Amino acid sequence: MKKFEILLLEQASEISSEKVLNPEGFTAWTSPSNIAIVKYWGKRPGQIPANASLSLTLSKARTETSVTYTYDKSIKEPQLTFKFEGKTQDQFEKRIKKYLLEIRELLPWLNHTKLSIDSSNNFPHSSGIASSASAMSALALTLCDIEERMYGRKTAKDFMKKASFLARLGSGSASRSVYGNMAEWGMTSCRRESSDEFAIPVTGIHEDLLMLRDSILIIEAGKKKVSSSFGHDLMKSNPYAKLRFEAAEENMQRLCSVITGGDTGHFIDIMENEALSLHAMMMTSTPGFLLMKPNSLKAIEMIREYRRESGSQLGFTLDAGANVHVIYTKKSESKVKKFIESELKPLCENGLVIHDEMGGGPERMSEV
Ligand code: DP6
Repeated sequence: MKKFEILLLEQASEISSEKVLNPEGFTAWTSPSNIAIVKYWGKRPGQIPANASLSLTLSKARTETSVTYTYDKSIKEPQLTFKFEGKTQDQFEKRIKKYLLEIRELLPWLNHTKLSIDSSNNFPHSSGIASSASAMSALALTLCDIEERMYGRKTAKDFMKKASFLARLGSGSASRSVYGNMAEWGMTSCRRESSDEFAIPVTGIHEDLLMLRDSILIIEAGKKKVSSSFGHDLMKSNPYAKLRFEAAEENMQRLCSVITGGDTGHFIDIMENEALSLHAMMMTSTPGFLLMKPNSLKAIEMIREYRRESGSQLGFTLDAGANVHVIYTKKSESKVKKFIESELKPLCENGLVIHDEMGGGPERMSEV
């Protein structure tokens, strides 16, 4: 067992013997999605990443989750009602129930608590924006908050670490959404505090790499064709997996100095290399997946050509899907936005482009 998990289990056993001070209450958090620059693709048992990853926390694409809780000693396992955008959603409810059962050893009060959860995204489900990162981080934050309210405890120092740990168990990339600007998850030799158990905030970011913009070209609206868990699983038999994990670590190390030094060109090179490597992994898995669409490739070529011609600081990245994230600096914003509107927008389904940017991370919506 890992170090922080042991600490959390000790904390859990201590808390079980404490008196519940506030058996009823309410909390609400909003938490953002994130876009990975170095990709997490492949994992080991216990939701341990095969390589470290680093992401930009978005500002606008968020999930808001509010939870009303009631502690009742006579209940013996977590009880839940779940509404997504005001409607009951059986599939999500089942996933959350399974998650609560998995984490109840760490939060033993869950066994005696009724939770009424309301969750909504401020971005369309079909937009291809990763909703598991924002949703699972928002949920983890509300759970940590409920624990503090219930027991009148303050674990302030470890609050975010614990939220990131719990978010990770729900969805790996969610561990990174707990922090603003940039976050890193997974052991990497370039950061001493890094951990496979939780994400850490990236500090010392050069001002040129702060406030990066992310305009998401919706090349294909609709559901992802490959679920992340299936995709991670494919890496177990991918013949290039070992090389990929080593390359990701090299990219993490390069990024470390690039982020503090502010070498935007190098940052863009690494980001694009990572996106193409992720898709190469999908193409070389069995079965193999071609997730880019002709318009994704067109967009990539046009972004590169425009960069060569204009000298603007922009590049692309993709998740496990066809949509293209155009990442650019605040300095190049006005020119790049014009280029996106006139040249790239026509490549998008119904001309949909979602303009987002780096943001400050989750926020508590309820009173303390
Ligand atoms: C391509 O975090 O969605 O977006 O841990 O199984 O929930 P699970 O996977 P998930 O995988 C994200 C994959 C990715 C890359 C990334 O965000 O790092």
